[in-house]
Formats: sequence, structure tokens, C-alpha cells
Amino acid sequence: MAMERSLILFKPDAVQRKLCGELLSRIERKGLKLIGLKMLRVTPELSQQHYAEHVTKKFYPLLESFITSGPIVAVAVEGPEAVKVMRAMMGSTNGRDSAPGTIRGDFGSSRQMNLIHGSDSPEAAQRELAIYFQPGELQDWSPVLDDQTTASDER
Ligand code: RTP
Ligand code: MG
Repeated sequence: MAMERSLILFKPDAVQRKLCGELLSRIERKGLKLIGLKMLRVTPELSQQHYAEHVTKKFYPLLESFITSGPIVAVAVEGPEAVKVMRAMMGSTNGRDSAPGTIRGDFGSSRQMNLIHGSDSPEAAQRELAIYFQPGELQDWSPVLDDQTTASDER
């Protein structure tokens, strides 16, 4: 089983709406391990680096203006197939299409103000984690309850 890391962001709308505790709680309850956590303000330069694949798209100016509009919370998570698990918990990009039970499906109805970012592949996760966290800011630790939550061949 692939042990993966993913870069999660609670976007400015999640901070403004005081949903960070709710989102963090969902991630922990699912069984993912928190290995890094910080609050910061995304600059235009950071946004262009993070969303490099979108910089030339028509919606990018609005996206940059939104993501730099207030503080965000960056979370590094680790777990078996963490990228896929997080994307499923988040729901699809547009909150109007996201399934109930997902974060975007439960808390929003916008394509842009969709509360949360999650890496879309292990390669993207590696690139994005390096943008938001120094190596020394990620904690290496073993949950003592691992043998109650995952089989040995899943770790
Ligand atoms: P994210 O990267 O933030 O996790 O979101 P995602 O993979 O679900 O969606 P992506 O296609 O990567 O788009 C990045 C963010 O840009 C905004 N967006 N606006 N107006 C538009 O057409 C449009 N399309 C995307 C959203 O905030 C989306 O999360
Ligand atoms: Mg994306």
C-alpha cells in the first residue's frame, strides 16, 4: 500500500467562515496523520508558483485575488493513499456538483470559494509540500493506535 503525503490548504473562505476546526476534525477522524500545520498569507508570487498550471487560464486573476484575500491554513497529511482519500473527502471542484457528505458538498455552493485545496497526485504533493513547508517543519511520528486502525499490509 502506498504511504502518501498530501498538501492541504484551508482557503481564505474556510478561515473567514471559521470552518478550520471542522475541516481539521474531518481529516483526523478519517485516520489521516497530521505532520505539518501553519497559518500564512499567500502572496501573488506564491499563488503563481502553486497554481502554475492555471496561471495562463482565464479564471486565474480571480483565483489569485481570492487565494491572496486573507490568511489560509496549510496542512501536511500522511496516510495510505492520502492523495486519493483527501480528494474524495473534498468532493469535486464546483460546490454545486459536489456530493453531500464531502467538504465542498456540505459547506459550499461555489466553484471558486470551495474551501479547501488538496494535491491531485503524489508528484504534485511533493512539489506543493516543498513550496509551503521546510523539511524541518514536517514531523515524523508514529500514531500509537496504528495497529487498531490499519492492517500491517496497509502501512
Ligand atoms: P484545488 O487545486 O484548489 O484543490 O482545486 P481543484 O483541483 O478541485 O480544481 P482546479 O481545476 O485545480 O482549480 C483550482 C482552483 O481554481 C478555482 N477555479 N475557478 N472559474 C473557474 O472556472 C475556476 N476553475 C477553477 C477553484 O478555486 C479551484 O479550486
Ligand atoms: Mg487542483
